[in-house]
Amino acid sequence: MITRRGFLRLAGGSFLSMVSLGAYAVGIEPMLPAHVKHYALAPPHWPVGLKLRVVALADIHACRPWMTPERIAKLVEAANALQPDIIVLLGDYTAGTHLVTGWVRAAEWAEALSGLKAPLGVLSILGNHDWWTDHAAQRAGAGPTASRKALEHVSIPVLENDVVRLEKDGHGFWIAGLADQLALLPGPGQSRFKGLDDLDGTLAKAGDGAPVILLAHEPDIFPKVPWRVSLTLSGHTHGGQVRLFGYSPVVPSRFGNRFAYGHVVENGRNLIVSGGLGFSIMPVRFGMPPEILQIDLG
Ligand SMILES: [Fe+2]
Repeated sequence: MITRRGFLRLAGGSFLSMVSLGAYAVGIEPMLPAHVKHYALAPPHWPVGLKLRVVALADIHACRPWMTPERIAKLVEAANALQPDIIVLLGDYTAGTHLVTGWVRAAEWAEALSGLKAPLGVLSILGNHDWWTDHAAQRAGAGPTASRKALEHVSIPVLENDVVRLEKDGHGFWIAGLADQLALLPGPGQSRFKGLDDLDGTLAKAGDGAPVILLAHEPDIFPKVPWRVSLTLSGHTHGGQVRLFGYSPVVPSRFGNRFAYGHVVENGRNLIVSGGLGFSIMPVRFGMPPEILQIDLG
């Protein structure tokens, strides 16, 4: 039988371990150097002989003290060191929380990202926070957002319902980028976000039969992505920010854990969801340290 003293020790011990766990989740894990999450796959419709290394950075959420331009510059170095053929940025460059000691201007994070280097280039899409933090774009119901302008200013193309055709080793392929699915905040008396995404229109631009890699900030589009797309890359969920035993209690997706994190294969279609680098709402990460994606195709 447990004595009162024993109970208090146990409770006190649990309290202390809760406190240290909390300190770890708030102060330590979100600030860890990004680890490289590696995937190797040969998705459907991918040409034999086309070896392509894609490195992806998602959900940077620049703000002080958590994601400073100096820290972004370190992520850039780490991404370049992986010797990618192409680097893709999966959206949400702006702060996702008010728990900051200072903001990072778009020009500052874009300048840090301008150090990314890959032979086939650097391409980007936008995320919901890039829209939500831009009051002028919200009022207008249209872009270009401050994030788009900042990326273009450092010569990083932004794909919003747009495509780019690339070639490597004699094989052509498309990178398609979807405009954000939650871009416009609900108006007064409304409850629904308005997306600016046009999946069919985007894929129609990828005219020939060459394979397609789709960049879509929110993974919720995935059930609608046609079979012709070899691979969809997403961020947004941060893996739930807290993930234990392959389960995330809170996921900003109407599909819950289905697309919360990692490599998902459904009906022969492939989706990879990055756990991202920064965070939103609370400066917490647990069981989901910041990550850079390295995807080797072919
Ligand atoms: Fe997001």
